[in-house]
Amino acid sequence: MTLSRVAGLMAIYVCCFVCGAREDVRWELIPPRNASIPQGSLLGGYLDNNEWNYFLYVGRVFFYNNIIPAAVYSHDGRWQASFALDGTVRTGITGFEVAATDRSEFVRWVPAANGEVPQGAVQVGIAAGGSEVLYACRAYDDPQQGGVSVTVMAVGALRPTAKVCFTTIMGTLKKYPTYEVLVKS
Ligand SMILES: *[C@@H]1O[C@H](CO)[C@@H](O)[C@H](O)[C@H]1NC(C)=O
Repeated sequence: MTLSRVAGLMAIYVCCFVCGAREDVRWELIPPRNASIPQGSLLGGYLDNNEWNYFLYVGRVFFYNNIIPAAVYSHDGRWQASFALDGTVRTGITGFEVAATDRSEFVRWVPAANGEVPQGAVQVGIAAGGSEVLYACRAYDDPQQGGVSVTVMAVGALRPTAKVCFTTIMGTLKKYPTYEVLVKS
């Protein structure tokens, strides 16, 4: 192999690292009442309660001094977000960002439990004035809620020190000690 070919191959390798931004998860700001969310928005879960059946995308919202991983969904023709953290639940939030990627094969959901954060977890949010990173997590459940059966892969926020994945299912706070975490490979 000639020296110039070696140099060329090295340039390709360096580019894979430096120019690899397209493989990243990016955060798209969705203006209130926007008709759609971008192509490549990251699907995280779903909720089916026989009346509604909708997809949950990975999002995040600002809330006081926190940025909190959230679930993004379209309900009554409007895109909105919901989240749960500690004892707080909010739904119907119209100011949010949604995660998007051009290369979904670089994004995976890795199982973990009891506050564990798998290697490569995407840093989604931040809590307590910067002292703790929050991650996007999800958990499967099929609760009876308000007299109806719900089947859900709920999308929420992993707070490692709390050792659970916080989510909300139709406005009710849920905590899961076993969950999956959004990871970038
Ligand atoms: C807002 O909605 C329009 C129309 O559906 C769409 O073309 C555009 O990509 C959306 N903007 C974002 C940031 O998703």
